[in-house]
Amino acid sequence: MELADTQAVEALLRWYAEMGVEEAVTSEPMGLYAWKSTAEPQANADTSPRARAKPTPAKTQIFRSESTPPSADEAIASATKIAAACTSFEELRAAVHTFEGCPLKAGARNTVFADGVASAKLLVIGEAPGRDEDQIGKPFVGRAGQLLDRMLAAIDRSRDQDTLITNVVYWRPPGNRTPTQIETAICQPFVDRLIELTDPKVIMLAGGAPLNALLGISGIMRARGIWREIETQGGKRYPVLPMFHPAFLLRQPTNKRLAWNDLLTLNARLTED
Ligand code: URA
Repeated sequence: MELADTQAVEALLRWYAEMGVEEAVTSEPMGLYAWKSTAEPQANADTSPRARAKPTPAKTQIFRSESTPPSADEAIASATKIAAACTSFEELRAAVHTFEGCPLKAGARNTVFADGVASAKLLVIGEAPGRDEDQIGKPFVGRAGQLLDRMLAAIDRSRDQDTLITNVVYWRPPGNRTPTQIETAICQPFVDRLIELTDPKVIMLAGGAPLNALLGISGIMRARGIWREIETQGGKRYPVLPMFHPAFLLRQPTNKRLAWNDLLTLNARLTED
């Protein structure tokens, strides 16, 4: 291949990655071993250049996977059962790491479960891991995460001391898109169990995705700064405060004034007896 071709291919692959195309997939599920066994040359096969140049008819059946991925309902049922059986935060972490039911996992480098102090009074729930989080395996470590750390520091809190941070999904959505309702529904039993096992006093919902996933409402502009209550699948109730996502505040810094009001509201509840 010419150097110019190599550079063009590299540029195309980089563009694909930026657009969220991180996997080579076909329109049909593909069984790797089925594909290998038919793709490898047979002992008596005609491998002459002429024979290889002949177009081969499409054989879609060889690409069919032997085990079909679980349906969304099956994945949710499985997550519910696994999460309910976990009796500690560390057990839950291990269960999420080995869970195979969320389709996002296939395109992610790492499982991003939680970071901070499991016994903290404050739990922050964000949207989804981004590129930096996916690389490191911890939530909120990129630019938005650094702003979140500064926001917490402004009310004298930190993930090292007294805060736990997680997301509504544990794997990076391709191209940093918002997770779908199915993806959040599959992870929800784990999120609920995390809340029950860590038993925070107060939960901050960072942005529209957790607002939607946990309260079933949309419109962070109107919902922010107003206390609500959630009930976990295990029937426990917790106060939640929807707030702007730090990534939104990076894009629209004039809203930091409102975010500061919300932080004070959050802290007042945290410090009351
Ligand atoms: N944004 C989120 O919502 N979560 C992260 O972990 C990082 C960025």
